[in-house]
Amino acid sequence: MEEYISTTFAKQLKECRKAKGLSQRELADILNMSFQSISKWENGNGFPNLSLLPDIADALDVSCDMLVGYETKMPTSKYNELYKADKFFWDTVPNSLSFKILKEFPPAEYENLLELGCGEGRDSVFFGINGYNVTGIDIVRSGLDKANKRAALQNTSLNLVCSNIKHFSSKDKYDVICGYRILHYLIPEERRSIIERYKKMTRKGGVNVFTVVVDKPFIPLAPDHENNTYLFKSGELASLYYDWELLYMDEETISCNSSGIAHKHVIDSIIARKII
Ligand SMILES: C[S@@+](CC[C@H](N)C(=O)[O-])C[C@H]1O[C@@H](n2cnc3c(N)ncnc32)[C@H](O)[C@@H]1O
Repeated sequence: MEEYISTTFAKQLKECRKAKGLSQRELADILNMSFQSISKWENGNGFPNLSLLPDIADALDVSCDMLVGYETKMPTSKYNELYKADKFFWDTVPNSLSFKILKEFPPAEYENLLELGCGEGRDSVFFGINGYNVTGIDIVRSGLDKANKRAALQNTSLNLVCSNIKHFSSKDKYDVICGYRILHYLIPEERRSIIERYKKMTRKGGVNVFTVVVDKPFIPLAPDHENNTYLFKSGELASLYYDWELLYMDEETISCNSSGIAHKHVIDSIIARKII
């Protein structure tokens, strides 16, 4: 058990520190300790005193649960198994908004792109082969492994980070931040502050592109509806961007067969540009 915790902690600490853009020394300085301690823990040699855990979590903007590997397993364990299969669960064709991004915000001017909830990488790989400098985040490692293999086959490389979008932060500013059917995994009370963080990570003139699943009283919940998702209200996504230029908004009803039973989803999409 002890070995399991220190191995998991080692992996989580390293990933969360990198996701936050800190070196071992910078993290050690914040915590007022030697960088050798950080290095030792990241190498799986021991575990900090429990009383230090909240300070480490605070410094990295993550929860204590996340540091001991509990939170990453919980929300999306279903995908961990699904993504391990050779077949692509989400298809290999990119989302249609990715073609719009390529056309309207080409990499020559919008090079740095961050995709939230990149899954098996169908969009991140598409952006990579089309010349963007791509960072993709997902909480499920098996999806990222698959995306990495696919990127290599297509002679491109991606910066893929196993992280919870709730906690990811970066000193880099992105030209494009996008995410397809990911934001409804955030609980409604936290959505505004989390989106504000990603808005801050966007450079002036950059864009955010999102699709979310919307709750409509006349559309039954999908047969494979996940309990850890909280559907948006119509127009809610746009309201989060009230202070940006809204370049594109759409609401459409799509057919889906994800559980083997035909059903429908309503999807809201948005492209918004940061002006000031
Ligand atoms: C509906 S799938 C969409 C995948 C991908 N965007 C696509 O269109 O192929 C949602 C993805 O979000 C990821 N996810 C869910 N909650 C997350 C979170 N809090 N942080 C990071 N990724 C998360 C899941 O692992 C899954 O890969």
